[in-house]
Amino acid sequence: MREHSGVAIEDFLITSGSAVREALQMINGAPIKICLLVDTQGRLLRAVTDGDIRRGLLAGLDLESSADELPGREPVTCFADAEKDAIYRLLDENQVHSVILIDKESRPVGLADRASLGAGILMSPPHMGEIELHFVRAAFEDNWIAPAGPNLVQFEKELAKASGRSHALAVSSGTAALHLALRVIGVRAGDRVYVSDLTFAASLQPIMFEGAIPVLIDSEPDSWNMSSEALGRRLAEDAKDRTLPRAIILVHLYGQPADISSIKAIADHYCVPIVEDAAESLGASYADRPSGSHGQLAAFSFNGNKIITTSGGGALVGDDAELLEKARNLSTQGRDFAEHYQHSEVAYNYRMSNVLAGIGLGQLALLQERVAARRAIFRRYREGLTDIPGIGFQQEAPCSRGSRWLTVISLNPNRIGRHSYQLMRELRRAGIETRPGWKPMHMQPLCAGLKFEPHSESEPVSSRLFLQSLCLPSGSSMTQLDQDHIIAQIRRMVAET
Ligand SMILES: Cc1ncc(COP(=O)(O)O)c(C=O)c1O
Repeated sequence: MREHSGVAIEDFLITSGSAVREALQMINGAPIKICLLVDTQGRLLRAVTDGDIRRGLLAGLDLESSADELPGREPVTCFADAEKDAIYRLLDENQVHSVILIDKESRPVGLADRASLGAGILMSPPHMGEIELHFVRAAFEDNWIAPAGPNLVQFEKELAKASGRSHALAVSSGTAALHLALRVIGVRAGDRVYVSDLTFAASLQPIMFEGAIPVLIDSEPDSWNMSSEALGRRLAEDAKDRTLPRAIILVHLYGQPADISSIKAIADHYCVPIVEDAAESLGASYADRPSGSHGQLAAFSFNGNKIITTSGGGALVGDDAELLEKARNLSTQGRDFAEHYQHSEVAYNYRMSNVLAGIGLGQLALLQERVAARRAIFRRYREGLTDIPGIGFQQEAPCSRGSRWLTVISLNPNRIGRHSYQLMRELRRAGIETRPGWKPMHMQPLCAGLKFEPHSESEPVSSRLFLQSLCLPSGSSMTQLDQDHIIAQIRRMVAET
């Protein structure tokens, strides 16, 4: 039998001849307000809801009457081994909350509702392959259970290749990689560092680790990435005041590369280095070169929800051997070159473990497949939702190919007639996980008082996107069936407005 529901069916059964009181007691204590009347052989006769009991009592029955006299309804049933899509169809066509699963003798064996069917449609769960275990096992067999070893060496080599760089340093998180980038570039307390405003807090917090001052640069409306207009305006102002930033952290939001050519041209004009926050964009490309290969340095994340994962981890990549060597030293407590333990500066324990690098090696081998799957998911969402007035999609910057790590839609509340949070809650009730887009940094309590440069005086773009956007399930392991269901649910909910 296929288990669609977390509830025990016995808790919903009453036998023919039982009193109305028993049905009422059962429904009263049950999480789902329904009970199933069965004959003495356990075969389903009909379903009774609390509304049916109310109607029965109003029509003159009392609590001691037989439950068989209640005005029940024809149950919506299907065999327990039915495919998910058949059950989805029954739910939709009959406008019911649950379908009763029966066996060949018509005995109820379970209940299926949208939540139980949809449970597991997560935003971006890890998608594990099979070869990861091979590398992890090798680490165990060789006893390389340390932040050093053959998996780590190989992972860094492959990662450098995948990101079009000469060097890679695998560390414990994307946040650590960004922190090391700022340290080796020479960011000091009091320095200004520009950062994309619309991002996850981890893009900005390493600036604060160093006591430097983040300056928040708005998004542009198409790719939702850093606005070159806002950047140019802010740099021109700061150049006048001689307060140019020490670095720019450029985020590739939700896996779509920012318009690096324009951003880089402006940054180069003022000689400000770019650190790419490519945490979400591994496998994407811009101008036929991998995302992460354009700035002076770039950081990736292998958090569990990312396009590939090491359960938790990150990497710093770049072409300058000296910078990467310095980062490597800082990632291992900054030991001086000496036989004994000698240290001259503050450093960290940021190195990735050889065991996790084994997971990374297995995952990296499938990177392009994972990107292709996420791009296909984006395409299907666009095809399935694009005709709904008020729904928009994040666009790819010119000459770029995003990883579509997450498909994020924007919902214009004036046209859709609802706030994205309403839709999020309705989808949650249907067992589908969605999330609001990132809350911009300039709206965060953490960033109170920080300078924010809007895209244009009339339009701060990031706050509008925040209020209107919704991240949809985009995991590369999601089935087409589940995605069709999500699309159908969104269409139904929006149509009901
Ligand atoms: C844009 C961005 N930057 C940085 C990070 C930090 O990566 P990690 O979670 O590996 O520290 C993340 C994700 O978590 C992210 O989405």
